[in-house]
Amino acid sequence: MLPRVASSDEPLRLAVLISGGGSGLTALLRYQEAEPRAHQTVLVLADSTDAGGLDHGLERGIQSAGIPLPDIADRVERRLAHEELVHGALLAAEVELVVLSGYMRILTPNFVRRWKGRLVNIHPSLLPKYPGAHAHRDALADGATVSGCTIHLVDEGVDSGLILAQSEVEVKPNDSVSDLQERIKKVEHVLYPEVLDRLAVGGFSV
Ligand code: GRF
Repeated sequence: MLPRVASSDEPLRLAVLISGGGSGLTALLRYQEAEPRAHQTVLVLADSTDAGGLDHGLERGIQSAGIPLPDIADRVERRLAHEELVHGALLAAEVELVVLSGYMRILTPNFVRRWKGRLVNIHPSLLPKYPGAHAHRDALADGATVSGCTIHLVDEGVDSGLILAQSEVEVKPNDSVSDLQERIKKVEHVLYPEVLDRLAVGGFSV
């Protein structure tokens, strides 16, 4: 189920989930501040309390919290319990669309099923090429001359859901992982807000 069709009068309520510095989050918040949009960020969640990106939400008065993994010995139970906490926070904030933006945890099918169609991710490669946590390293090792980013709905697989949009980025001959990462992030910061605009106003049919 896709999110409801929203407008700038009744914007879609987004949660942005991050793990790190949140440059993508900042770009989205700036975009939303610039003029009325059909989506607004009402919640920022991280999987640790020290994720730098939380400050970007807090300094704008947006409810922002780190939810660390609970202290449970069994790995599977720990993951599920963590996702219950995240799910509870999303419901409490009446979130309508979950935006993964550098969230470095693989979500369980249990969580994905609850948010299916209302859960989007950005991945720094042209999927299906280079899924997983090391997209830039894998692109460089493969001798790719073009990479980019992909925005997709999240399904039960890893970086495998329906592709909504992609942007290409040139790989230059002596690029390091961080050169390529920074060049791709610039494009991500433009593409993600645009795709969210389109998703919020019912511009995709799946
Ligand atoms: C982005 O490149 C995104 O594609 C990937 O993680 C990075 C997040 O960077 N999933 P930041 O935390 O937004 O700076």
